[in-house]
Amino acid sequence: MAWRHVLAVTLLADPAVAWEMPDTLYFTGSGAEALIADGSVRVEGSQLACAGCHGADGRGDDEGATLIPPVTWEALTTPTGGRSAYDAETFARAVRAGVGPDGQKLSAAMPRYLMDDAAMAGLVESLTRLEANDRRAFGPRELRVRFGAIEPRLGGFADAAQAFNDAGGAYGRSIVLVGAGDALALDDIAETALLGVSEVSEALLFARIVDDGHRRIRWLTALSAPERDFRLRQRGLVHDESARVLLWTSPGVTPPSLTAIDAVYADLAVAAPGLGALIEGAVPIYLAAPDASLLEAALRDPAPLAYVEGYLAGLALGQALTDAGRAGGQEALRRALGKAGAQLPISVHRIGD
Ligand code: HEC
Repeated sequence: MAWRHVLAVTLLADPAVAWEMPDTLYFTGSGAEALIADGSVRVEGSQLACAGCHGADGRGDDEGATLIPPVTWEALTTPTGGRSAYDAETFARAVRAGVGPDGQKLSAAMPRYLMDDAAMAGLVESLTRLEANDRRAFGPRELRVRFGAIEPRLGGFADAAQAFNDAGGAYGRSIVLVGAGDALALDDIAETALLGVSEVSEALLFARIVDDGHRRIRWLTALSAPERDFRLRQRGLVHDESARVLLWTSPGVTPPSLTAIDAVYADLAVAAPGLGALIEGAVPIYLAAPDASLLEAALRDPAPLAYVEGYLAGLALGQALTDAGRAGGQEALRRALGKAGAQLPISVHRIGD
């Protein structure tokens, strides 16, 4: 079967990316029970881990509708305009009974927790380490990124990091690759960044299909048939097993065989969010990517697909380091990275004619 068009882009399967986090009550909630609805409902602490509201960095959140105060031990033991400093005793009372250091009732938005004294002591101890934990990948002049023994995305990531460092980095910080030690895992960075990228590139490629006047496409996806058809209908498209346009969005789904040249490009596209290929014969090819020259660099790498992923992740990380601000920190960076991935300047390029 000869396809006139092949389109491909990856959708990563799991949107919930877990960055390395300590295995403490603050992060997991285990070892405690939570009381909600004014104490009338009791749930497992794991359903209401502190970090879920107060953040992995303990800095809270002053942007949402509910003000969530910071709970690093340093913040709690410092008086604010609104309350005196906490100590271990008043902290335990706040967590168990929802009463502030001056006897004021905390709002019901803060659950109450049942835990024994040992768990409470462990909780306090972990609050003293939140700040350090959040910053352990950061030096004054660097952000350390750790790569694994087998890291096919390393080539592309290193090239993007190099370009970022050459352009001056962010707040005097460069991206430094390390093989071990306190650092963020390259994998975690890539998963977080690429999630946003793949959504954007998918939207661009769908728009391209529609612009080119196609109505019927064959979509190779891990989605169930009803879900697939529903998504296509939203875009005015119809699934058709014999359509000339093939959209390939799931690396887990094995595509039917391609001709050699198609395989290079389609293969390149399939593991590369942000890089979709629209192939008509062998050329022209349409790529959803920040820059058409990325394809050439990728093809010089032994693992072109992973190269592109690594490159996009590195690009997003540079942007996120800037967006996370001078203070940096792992949690601020993680939030910025999700946004940066979705905002990379991706567009559809026509290559090869
Ligand atoms: C569902 C979200 C949520 C969870 C989960 C949560 N908190 Fe809170 N927490 C809040 C909110 C909202 C406030 C502010 C309450 C107020 O202003 O009266 C708060 C306030 C606090 C305060 C008082 C801070 C101050 O400055 O007076 C402490 C201490 C605290 N939380 C610790 C914890 C700990 C420890 C955990 C986990 C065992 C936890 N919180 C879990 C939402 C949450």
